[in-house]
Amino acid sequence: MHNKYPFTRLRRGRQASWSRLLVKEHHLTPSNLILPLFVEEGDGEPSAIESMPDCFNYSIKYIINKAQEAEALGIPAIALFPKIALSKKTEDGIEAINPDNLICRTIRAIKEQKLNIGVIADVALDPYTSHGQDGIVKNGNVDNDITLEQLKKQAIVLAKAGADIVAPSDMMDGRIGAIRCALEEEGFKNIIILSYAAKYASKFYGPFRDAIGSTKQLGAQNKSTYQMDPANTKEALSEVTMDIQEGADWLMIKPGMPYLDIIKLVSDHVNVPLFAYQVSGEYTMLHELAKKSHQDFIPLMLEALLSFKRAGADAIFCYAAIEIAKELR
Ligand code: PBG
Repeated sequence: MHNKYPFTRLRRGRQASWSRLLVKEHHLTPSNLILPLFVEEGDGEPSAIESMPDCFNYSIKYIINKAQEAEALGIPAIALFPKIALSKKTEDGIEAINPDNLICRTIRAIKEQKLNIGVIADVALDPYTSHGQDGIVKNGNVDNDITLEQLKKQAIVLAKAGADIVAPSDMMDGRIGAIRCALEEEGFKNIIILSYAAKYASKFYGPFRDAIGSTKQLGAQNKSTYQMDPANTKEALSEVTMDIQEGADWLMIKPGMPYLDIIKLVSDHVNVPLFAYQVSGEYTMLHELAKKSHQDFIPLMLEALLSFKRAGADAIFCYAAIEIAKELR
């Protein structure tokens, strides 16, 4: 009876911006955003990342500026990714556990500023390996358990440097449990583990691999023996369940827009904070769309980010977080 025209005209609620505002179901605020930042050696000017418009590799001095800017805009956290010099990349990625490596120095420099912003550090070996894989290769395979030993040490080194959140991103089995135990043993009881719980073997990471300089290293190889098959849905729930049992505090699904069904599924199934990563390829795609269709980038990005909120994500990693936060204020 009630859903019958003309008694029900859904357009009544859409007639003015005030009425649309009243019935808006989902909201995006700067507090929903996490800013990923790329850091490089030296103290030079920011260097452009060719495959990611308006994105730069920053030296430590400039990263500090970015962290301050993010804090001032109400962005609650930044995620740091290092571009490691070719000369420091090795088969075993041992630079990952050097307490004076680029990422640890960056974390310490940011922490000295006493900002009210969370610092997230990736736990994975790919920036450090000469072959670009996320783990240590033995007999042609990315060896799960040998890699875990190194990840534990990497997590401790990052925690000692002052990271608030460690984010294991490599999809090795058992990494969350191994890292949680290592952190507890070393007395780091308050470090948050943000697990890249369902991370798919995606082509959308292409620009990121350019940014951290691992594209050439990886060559024709892929990461399909550890990252998830894009064809799988139920497996994401297995990954998520395992990671919660092993001690993950928060979860992430990645990439974002091509995997909104997974975000929705996981948010319907678990009661753990859930993040989404709008990855480098999605970011570049939206920039290219804006350019090719003569539209502004920001409204396209805002629409894309709202889709994550509808799907159930609490916060979103977004390379345009600063620009979006400015728009939202
Ligand atoms: C690596 C890592 C990747 C991303 C974040 N951490 C790439 C990969 O798995 O090859 C991708 C982020 C992006 O594309 O924006 N452990």
